[in-house]
Amino acid sequence: QKEYSEIISTLFDKGYFPGLKGIPIVESTISNIDGEKGILTFRGYPVEELANNCSYEEVCFLLLTGELPNKKEQEELRRKLLTHKKVDSKVTDLITNMDRNLHPMYMLSTGVLLLQGSDNTSFNIQNQKENIERVIRLIAKLPTLIGVYRTNNPNFAEGKEFNSFAQYALYCLDEGSSQNQKLVDIFEKLLILHADHTINNSTFSVRAVGSSHASIFASIASAINSLSGPLHGGANEKVIKMLEEIEVPENAEEYINNKKSQGEKIMGLGHRVYKTYDPRGVYFKKELLPQIFNDNNPFEIDSSLEDLYKVAEEVEEIALKQLGSKGIYPNVDFWSGLILKAMNIKSNYFTTIFALGRIMGWSAHWLENIESKSSIFRPKQLYKGSEIRSIKK
Ligand code: ACO
Repeated sequence: QKEYSEIISTLFDKGYFPGLKGIPIVESTISNIDGEKGILTFRGYPVEELANNCSYEEVCFLLLTGELPNKKEQEELRRKLLTHKKVDSKVTDLITNMDRNLHPMYMLSTGVLLLQGSDNTSFNIQNQKENIERVIRLIAKLPTLIGVYRTNNPNFAEGKEFNSFAQYALYCLDEGSSQNQKLVDIFEKLLILHADHTINNSTFSVRAVGSSHASIFASIASAINSLSGPLHGGANEKVIKMLEEIEVPENAEEYINNKKSQGEKIMGLGHRVYKTYDPRGVYFKKELLPQIFNDNNPFEIDSSLEDLYKVAEEVEEIALKQLGSKGIYPNVDFWSGLILKAMNIKSNYFTTIFALGRIMGWSAHWLENIESKSSIFRPKQLYKGSEIRSIKK
């Protein structure tokens, strides 16, 4: 009720809804957020329960079909993902020839578009069973695009065997870490935590582009581009940059005050929907980070990373004091970078990992759009330009 009265008063005050803020635009059964209580569910299951109990394949199956798989279905999906991971040489040739300065997110969206070349039936989107198979083949190839670009070698995984899709995905980002089962487990949970998040900016893109009956490739590429922005998924890369700039906990307060006085946002804080702790951030802080940053952990952690963790804790404490009353809390991007850094992953690849998780949700939304026979997205504007006029020569 309160939400709707805010929407109606916005319409009366402004005559339009800036950025569609708070406007429900679809009916969906995929995920749900309670932004006041800090609860996120996928198909009704709390995200923490899924991270604690399920594999990437199980969550993928759940998001794509609505139910968790049985053992056989899970194995079958794992087999498909690992079988279809190979990318055609016509695509890998282009990727290995890309400018190495190109950000990995732009390589990824371009790579996804290029994959359409080997799927000439992809413009026929009427058959949902075929759509699901097409989606699985695409999900399978996403880590490969990253691995080819990172290593500049189309055959980087030749002859290697993988126990799970998460292990393969981590191999594409860092071979060494993928050999450590504890790190694979943490990485898998991280992917699951990112798997869906209702109608966020990138999911909106998938649904908007998909609503014109564009292919899954065009729709997912648009979502990757949206996710690259620093106000969305790109924040995880920026958070690490910020922590490095702050350098030591003693500098945190001055840094935050400077940013605030310049009207700049502090990366990794705040969320459009959560006005309390982001449950994914809580899971990172309470469940995943302690597995890495403790004296008995089985990994070699660089002391500079431990210093960054201390800086992050200080930033969190100050931010909560200064901004908590405004409903601004650390979000998922605040903590994820520290975990990825511990896995030896370069920070310019962080947002591609977000995409490796979120592609499950994007695909589910693309399928749901088709299932619901959604009409083409076409909002209106409030025109403020000049009246009709003539060219005077
Ligand atoms: N640092 C400082 N102040 C902030 C921050 C922040 N990170 N976020 C919001 N605020 C303040 C705003 O300045 C504003 O203050 P005001 O009312 O005094 O003007 C108030 O909180 C509301 O902010 P909005 O920008 O209106 O909030 P909105 O819901 O539009 O933005 C967003 C949400 C984009 C996530 C924003 O909080 C932000 O830019 N955060 C930093 C970037 C980031 O971490 N993005 C990742 C989000 S999670 C994800 O996409 C995966």
